[in-house]
Order: sequence, then C-alpha cells, then structure tokens
Amino acid sequence: MGLISKSLKQLHASEIRETMDKDMMKREQQLHEIEQTLPKPNGTYLSIILGNVNVSILNKNDKFKYKDEYEKFKLVLSVIGFILSVLNLFTNIRTLELSFMFLLVWYYCTLTIRESILKVNGSRIKGWWRFHHFLSTVVSGVLLVWPNTGAWYSFRGQFMWFNVYISVVQYLQFRYQRGVLYRLKALGERHNMDITIEGFHSWMWRGLSFLLPFLFVGYFFQLYNAYILYTLASHPKATWHVPVLSLMFLVLFLGNVITTIMVIPQKLQDRFRDHLHGVFVSKIQDRKKDASKDEEPKTEKSD
Ligand code: COA
Repeated sequence: MGLISKSLKQLHASEIRETMDKDMMKREQQLHEIEQTLPKPNGTYLSIILGNVNVSILNKNDKFKYKDEYEKFKLVLSVIGFILSVLNLFTNIRTLELSFMFLLVWYYCTLTIRESILKVNGSRIKGWWRFHHFLSTVVSGVLLVWPNTGAWYSFRGQFMWFNVYISVVQYLQFRYQRGVLYRLKALGERHNMDITIEGFHSWMWRGLSFLLPFLFVGYFFQLYNAYILYTLASHPKATWHVPVLSLMFLVLFLGNVITTIMVIPQKLQDRFRDHLHGVFVSKIQDRKKDASKDEEPKTEKSD
C-alpha cells in the first residue's frame, strides 16, 4: 500500500488519482477488518503479568461484550467507591480508610490490565488514559502508606469529598461510553471514526458537551488537591508523601486537561463531516426528486 501511494503521488491525471485514492481507502478499511480477526502479541506489560497466554478476541461480538463488561466493572467499583468515601466522611475508622485505599490500588491496577487487553484487541484508547490509571495506582499506593499524622488528617476530608465527586463523574462517563458503544453496535461499526452516519456524531457531541463541564470541575479539584498538598508540605508532621502526592495530582491535572482539550477539535471535525455528508445526501435526494418531476409530464404525454 505504501509503494502504491508513493507512485500515485507521481501520477498527474487527477481523476484517475481520485478513484485510486478511494480504492486505497477501501482496501485499508478491509485490511483493518482482517487485522481485527487475527491474533496479536500481548505486549511487554501483559506478558509480564499473564505470561504466555494470548488475549486476542477474534470475534466482533465477544469484543463488544468485553468492552461492555469493562464499562460495567468501572461502574460497580465507582458505586462501591462512592459508598466507602461517604462512610469515611462520616466516621473516622482507620481500618475502613485503609480498606478504601487498598481497594483503589487494586481497582486502578486491574484497570491497567483490562485496558492493555482492550488495546491488544484494537481499542483506540489514548496513551494518556492508560498512563493516568498507572499513575492513579501509584497515587493510591502512596496514600495507603501515608502515616496517619496531622498532615493526613488535614487532607482527609477533602480527599473523601474528591472521591465522592469522582464517583458521580464516573457514572456520567459510564452513561456516555455505553451510549457510544451501543449506538456503534446498532450501526454495525466498532470505531466511530470509520463512519459517517447522520445523527451519530451530533448525539456524541451533545453527550460530550454535557460531560465536559463535570470533567473540568474534577480536573480543577485535582489542581486544588495539588495546591493544598503543596501548602501542607510545610506542616510540622509532613512526610515525603505530601510533596510527592502534590506533584502527582498536578501531573494528573495537566495530562487530563491537555488530553481532553485535544479531543474537542477531533469531535467537532467528526460532527462537521457528518453535517457535510447530510448536506451532500439531501442534495442528491433533491436532484433525484427534480429528475423524477421532470420525467412525470413526459409519461403523461406518452399516456
Ligand atoms: N478511559 C478508558 N477508555 C477511554 C477513555 C478513558 N478515560 N476515554 C476514551 N476511552 C476509549 C473509548 O471508549 C474508545 O474506545 P474504543 O476504541 O475501544 O471504542 C477510545 O478510547 C477512543 O475514544 P475517543 O474517541 O478518543 O473519546 P471518547 O469520545 O470515547 O471519550 C472523553 C472522550 C473525553 C469523554 C473521555 O476520554 C473521558 O471521559 N475522559 C475523561 C476521563 C477522566 O478525566 N477521568 C478522570 C475524571 S476527574
């Protein structure tokens, strides 16, 4: 395909080039479809964790089920996280606090494994979201080993409120991601970038514009966490955990804001492409109508 593309660039007949380009795009799409039915190697991270077991899912339906299950898993764990953080807000039991932190370590660690499996199976999840979950595992680990001194108690309430808020945002994310997944399945497609179906991207954009304000409030909450931890670094009982957590919350804030902002133009572009497609289709329909109107009197005459 690369060689053909190169030699096509030297071709000057623009009409032939256009049709060839279209054919190439079709072929690329077909190759992508074929690729999805072939097993892929696991990658280093999965090989270390799982050993020599292949995790490729070769059936479209099973891939859909796996992704759906992943979204459900996140939902169930965010409900449990919500309950535990509310309980921690109204009680002061160290064991409960530590259980919650341990659950967070386990949850984020599990997410990194599930996401690596999704990636092997063709998911286009951005590198940052995967790294975000690796970093969240580390953040939860540091929180788990943070001694319960005065500095921790100054941050504890804020951290629990943060988790309550994140659980609500995760529920909203679940509704959005599930909506996308089921609509794509109904359209018979796996990836939204491959389709131009009127209505889909505008639905997606509506869902996203509802979600975005909640996400950004969450990001500024992360920045606020970083700031409070930064001020707590000078607390007489502060340990190394405080500045390290402050830095990690800052990295999470920056990465999340940059990645989410980068998604917006891409989604707007998809929506614009949809709109153009809609205009194109309606123009063709109008032309067809006009053509059939022109034909009508002729048939009357012949009658
Ligand atoms: N976690 C896991 N997977 C994600 C993801 C995330 N945060 N964001 C996107 N994906 C997946 C999508 O499900 C899709 O998967 P697929 O290829 O298997 O179908 C793929 O990555 C490509 O998604 P993309 O088109 O880039 O974005 P989207 O429309 O699915 O989602 C956002 C866009 C902004 C809504 C989404 O990235 C998101 O919710 N981000 C916020 C996450 C966050 O900040 N969490 C912390 C809260 S404070």
